[in-house]
Amino acid sequence: MKKIVMIVGFVLCAASLALAPMALADMPGPNAKELWNYITKVSPYQKWSFWPDHQGMQPGRAPHGPFHKVYVNDILLNSPAPPVQYGSIEVKESYNKAKKFVAITVQYKVKKGYNPNDGDWFWVKYSLKGRGKPAGKVKGCIECHGTRVKNDFILVHEFK
Ligand code: HEC
Repeated sequence: MKKIVMIVGFVLCAASLALAPMALADMPGPNAKELWNYITKVSPYQKWSFWPDHQGMQPGRAPHGPFHKVYVNDILLNSPAPPVQYGSIEVKESYNKAKKFVAITVQYKVKKGYNPNDGDWFWVKYSLKGRGKPAGKVKGCIECHGTRVKNDFILVHEFK
């Protein structure tokens, strides 16, 4: 009898784990290395989507360079309105005038309470090799993106 209870318990447990939303369980913490690993290996961002109103390479403004592509993950794409859902990530590839790929900047809605006054976003600028600096609650990033608090610090896509 005890054995059966154990087996049933195990099966229920395994089932609930399988059903648990994959999303947040295996998301990285507020850490540039973990986030780099996530966007390059666990869920390579090149397979994500573009915003419907911001596809492919687009001209950009300072400080991010003349051209960029912005990739968004499903959690963000499926966020109906700001504030967007936790686990949302935007990865921006920056290109120079000659359209050479030069840097990656990321904003990641990491977790409730991380930086509640500024939307709980984790900010990071990466070299092409994945060196993340600056990273965290980066004042410069927040100052500019914070001009659109109502749009949850997102600049290339307008929530209606
Ligand atoms: C001087 C203002 C300014 C600063 C500082 C700034 N950004 Fe941006 N950011 C923009 C603008 C404007 C865009 C819209 C795209 C473009 O024109 O390049 C943008 C777009 C982005 C995007 C694409 C998603 C979105 O929000 O639209 C990401 C990701 C991003 N920035 C990350 C960062 C990070 C990380 C930092 C700090 C290291 C940073 N930004 C600093 C102005 C700024």
